[in-house]
Formats: sequence, structure tokens, C-alpha cells
Amino acid sequence: MMKKKIILLSATATLFLVACGVNNGLSSEQIGLRKASLENENKVSLVEANYTNLQPGESTRFERSYENAPPLIPHSIADMLPITKDNNTCLSCHDKSIAKDVGATPLPASHYYDFRRNKSTKDSISDARFNCTQCHVPQSDAKPLVGNSFKPEFQNEQLKKHSNLIDVINVGVK
Ligand code: HEC
Ligand code: HEC
Repeated sequence: MMKKKIILLSATATLFLVACGVNNGLSSEQIGLRKASLENENKVSLVEANYTNLQPGESTRFERSYENAPPLIPHSIADMLPITKDNNTCLSCHDKSIAKDVGATPLPASHYYDFRRNKSTKDSISDARFNCTQCHVPQSDAKPLVGNSFKPEFQNEQLKKHSNLIDVINVGVK
């Protein structure tokens, strides 16, 4: 009985290994988007991609990718990184007490709320939102590698330009 099981197991393992090796007759150079071997990266070249040079105040905001998506950064952030504990340039314009005066979108209420402890962080940004570029990214002109036909649906026109996450976060939750 035991012997049969071992034979069956090793047969399965062999079949698995053979399947991996064959890979439908394709090499790793053919299956990846970067068209380079997995074992040797010498031929990997980075795609040409340019980011905007427009400074804050000169750029045009993007329509949201979908309802309550983190907005893309329309202006250059080249001189603002890295964000450190002692230096967060983004806040010097986007903090809710400053934003209106400099024409920047103020941080939304969700960024002044601690969702773990379920309470407002009042006038200081929640720690979870400090590292802006963890969620917000600038857009480059790189050509998409794969086509995408996704079309967002918005419940109203305002939501194409603004978020309301804090008001709807509990929708559907009892
Ligand atoms: C000097 C002021 C200033 C600084 C610093 C700044 N921004 Fe902005 N930001 C703006 C302005 C003004 C806009 C509106 C677009 C414009 O006028 O260029 C904007 C737009 C944005 C938007 C789009 C908002 C929307 O409603 O679509 C995001 C996201 C953003 N900034 C993120 C950042 C991040 C992240 C940083 C730090 C890396 C940063 N900003 C630093 C002024 C600033
Ligand atoms: C953990 C992810 C995360 C981090 C970190 C984060 N954001 Fe956001 N941000 C979002 C998401 C998601 C939204 C849209 C939904 C919402 O309002 O919360 C948003 C919305 C915004 C908006 C649009 C507000 C509006 O009224 O439409 C601005 C401006 C913004 N963020 C700026 C920033 C800046 C500046 C920082 C850093 C100080 C930051 N965010 C950090 C995820 C993040």
C-alpha cells in the first residue's frame, strides 16, 4: 500500500517537473512583457518615460481614474522627494489650512481620520497618510504595454474631480 503511494507521488512529481520544463515550448524570453530571459537581465532596457515638468499651479488636474481613486499628481514632484519624517513638502501646500490660499486641492477628511481607532485626527494628518507617494503617483507618457478597456462609472459629475470617501465608507456595512 505504502509502496503504491510512493510510486504515485513520484509519478506526479515527475509529471509536474516535465510540465514546468516544457512551458508549452516557449522560452522565458517569449512569455514576459519585457521580452528578456529570466536568467540573464543584460538585455533588459527600461522604457523611455517622461514625467511632466509643469510646476504646481501650472498643471491641470486629471479626471479621477474611478470613483474615490487616489488622484494622480499632475505637477512635477522632482524636487520634493524623498518625503521624510521631518520634511514633507506636499503638506506645505495640501494641508487643509493652507491649500485654498495656494490653489491646491485640500487633503480630504479621510486623511484626517484614524480608521484603526475610529476617530478624527483633528487638524493633523493621520500617520497612515503621511507618505503621499505610497498612494499618489505622477503620470508618465509611457505607452501602455497591455490594452485596457476599463471605463469608470461615476454616481455624479462632482465625483470625477473630487472624492467623498469618508461619507460613503460605511455604505453596505452593517
Ligand atoms: C507649491 C505647492 C504644492 C506642493 C509643494 C505640492 N502640490 Fe500638489 N498640487 C498643487 C496645486 C496648485 C495643484 C492643482 C494643480 C495645479 O494647479 O498645478 C496640485 C495638485 C495635486 C494633486 C491632484 C489633486 C486633484 O484634485 O486632482 C495631487 C494628488 C497632488 N497635488 C499631490 C501632491 C504631492 C503628493 C505632493 C508632494 C510630493 C505635492 N502635491 C506637492 C500644489 C502643490
Ligand atoms: C494610503 C493611501 C494614501 C495616502 C498615503 C495619501 N492619500 Fe491622498 N487619497 C487617497 C485616496 C484613496 C483618495 C481618494 C478617496 C479619499 O478621499 O480618501 C485620496 C484623495 C486625495 C486628494 C483629493 C481630495 C479631494 O477632495 O478630492 C488629495 C489632494 C490628496 N489625496 C493628497 C494627498 C497628499 C498630499 C498626501 C500626503 C500628505 C496623501 N494624499 C496621502 C489615498 C492616499
